[in-house]
Formats: sequence, C-alpha cells, structure tokens
Amino acid sequence: MTSRAPLSRKLSAIAESATLKVDAKAKALQAAGRPVISYAAGEPDFATPSFIVDAAAEALQNPANYRYTPAAGLPVLREAIVAKTLRDSGLEVAPSQVIVTNGGKQAVYQAFQTVVNPGDEVLLPAPYWTTYPEAIALADGTPVEVFAGADQDYKVTVAQLEAARTDKTTVLVFVSPSNPTGSVYTAEETAEIGRWALEHGIWVITDEIYQNLTYEGVRAVSIVEAVPELAEQTILLNGVAKTYAMTGWRVGWMVGPADAMKLAANLQSHLSSNVNNVAQRAAAAALNGPQDEVEQFREAFDRRRRLIVSELSKIDGVEVPNPLGAFYVYPDVRGLLNREWGGVTPATSLELADLILEQAEVAVVPGEAFGPSGYLRLSYALGDEQLLEGVQRLQRLFA
Ligand SMILES: Cc1ncc(COP(=O)(O)O)c(C=O)c1O
Repeated sequence: MTSRAPLSRKLSAIAESATLKVDAKAKALQAAGRPVISYAAGEPDFATPSFIVDAAAEALQNPANYRYTPAAGLPVLREAIVAKTLRDSGLEVAPSQVIVTNGGKQAVYQAFQTVVNPGDEVLLPAPYWTTYPEAIALADGTPVEVFAGADQDYKVTVAQLEAARTDKTTVLVFVSPSNPTGSVYTAEETAEIGRWALEHGIWVITDEIYQNLTYEGVRAVSIVEAVPELAEQTILLNGVAKTYAMTGWRVGWMVGPADAMKLAANLQSHLSSNVNNVAQRAAAAALNGPQDEVEQFREAFDRRRRLIVSELSKIDGVEVPNPLGAFYVYPDVRGLLNREWGGVTPATSLELADLILEQAEVAVVPGEAFGPSGYLRLSYALGDEQLLEGVQRLQRLFA
C-alpha cells in the first residue's frame, strides 16, 4: 500500500498561538474548579457599549444585510474608517484604500501576503506579538528579530535596525503601543524610524490596534503622521476589538496605497469575501458614535495599570518598565530564574510560568511566546479585585 501524501510543510511549521494556548489551559483549570486568575487573555473584560449592540440589533432587521456585500467592506464602514484614520493617524485616504477584514488578524495576514516575496527579510522588533512571525512565514518571508530589552523600554533604535538591514530587507513591522510590552514610541523616535524606512525604500506594516489606549497624556503618533511621505510604502492595520471591547465581533481593517490595497482586495475576494454585515454595521456605529464610554474603559485600564505596576515592583527580582499604552505589563523576571521556589528551580520564563500556574494558580504568558526567555506578559484587562489578588499571590510565592 502506498503511504498517504504528506500534509502541507508550510502549515506543519506553524505553531499554535501561545497566548490562546495559555488562556485555554487557564480556562480548563477554572472549569475544573481551580481558582485560577488569568492575566493571559488580550481582551477587555467590559461589555461592548450598548449603542453599538443596538446598531447591530437594528441591522439584523434589514434584509439587505442578509446578502453578500462588497468584499472590501460596506461603504458606510469604509467611510467611517477614512474619518478615523484622519482623526487618529493624521492620514487622508480614499475609501478605496480601506479594506475591512475579519478582525485585525486577517489584516495582519493579508498585509504580509501583499508586500512580501519569497526570501524577503522582514525586520521584526522583539518582543513581538506572537502572530507576526507566523504570518511572515506564511508569506514565504524570513522574520529577522531585532531585540530591545527592558533597559531601552523595549523600543528598537534606528542603529539596531540599520545593523540588521541587508539587501534582502523589504519590510519593517512597527507597533506602538506594543503588544506584548505596552511601550509607546515617542513622536521623535517614530519620525526617526520612519525617515530611515523611507530612505531605504522599506515597506512599513504598522499595527495601530492599541492607538487609542495610551496613558499619562501620551499620544501614539502614527508613523505616517510623523513622516507623511512614508504613506506610499505603509500599510496601517487597525480594528475595533481592543478600543471598543469588541474582540468577538471580528472587525478589523487595513489601509494603504491603492495598488497594494488592490492586491489585498483580490486576495480577500478569494479568501473570505465580505465580513459579516451586522458586525460591520456595529463597527461603523462604534467609530461614528459617542466615545465617552471608551474613555471610561481607558480610565479603568489606567487605574489597573498603575496598580499592577506598583504591586509587581514590590517583588524582589522583578523589573517592571512603566508601560504607557495597550493593557499589558512586561516585567523582566530574569532575577527570579535559577533560584528555588517551592522546591522548583526554573531556568526559563516558560518554566517560571508553569511554576506560577501550578503553585499560585495564576496564568501568565512566558516571554518565549514573544521572543527571548526571561520575561512574562500580564494583561491587566481584568477586574480590579482579581487583578490585586493575583499579584498578591505572586508576592507570596516569591517572598
Ligand atoms: C498587536 C495586535 N494586532 C492585532 C490583533 C488582532 O486583533 P483582532 O483580530 O482581535 O482584531 C491583536 C490581538 O491580540 C494584537 O494584539
């Protein structure tokens, strides 16, 4: 008997999302009755604002929404995205330069498919969000990690990027505020990186999904606002998930030069066609509607951010840079490694995260999911009481 032909080598090389894996493990333990507190999920704990839900309910009654609609998005949502892009990223675009996707994740995937050719090197500042290297590999590109540690607030410099650049470098990934670190590049740092990319003809894929979640008066300046000429070689990614507590609605988008968006739209027309019309109507309501509830979310995140940073900093061996955006803290925990805790001596942050789950019933994502070992990611998008209780468990474990 002949053996079955092999599965796809490309997909066999793709790893399951580490953050979803840790979150699933935490939820399974919770379901089994263990009082696990999880800092693993990258999603707001708030309900979607009711005016957005109402817009969806209304859309459900309109038969036009029961049909296929243009693959690149409903005109009403594309117009809303045009206005939002001008408002928050300082970039004027035509609706034809906007493609609505099934969450920011599909926009990430399609962006790399649009600009990467086989063998291209993609500069990926690390720590990075766990999906990027896989999306780059799926586009036959090679991710080239450029690491910035806690000592530089997890932000890469132009000198580091230049040292990593080769004649195969065609793309840079730029994310501010960052997942997993919460770091926000200053306007000056952003402009410097933008000018460097412009000078070398490098595409920039900028993920702005956390742009509305910044603290201490900081604003995340878009790289195309900092360097307007860069717009012809930049794809902006965004979505409603994080700002509007709409992770489950699955609406994101990409914005870019017309020729690039034409390619991406062709891909999407074969891949998934239009995003669910009801969710698109809800997203349009979110972008066009009152933003005061969103501001309350942001204030709650800010309060939790200050709490978790100050409580984590009390643990000896943990270094906590002050994150100015998103809803993550990314402590450097190398000071906890190779020491004995409750009979276990973790050598890596992966082992440390396991120990924390086992002994403190707290779920955190190890740095290995985002680059080098030695770090943990904690999302503070959970209720204040749980947030404090979880960190107190860590304080007791590492006392
Ligand atoms: C940096 C970043 N980009 C994009 C996404 C995708 O978000 P979604 O697909 O839920 O819209 C996420 C979600 O975790 C993220 O952290």
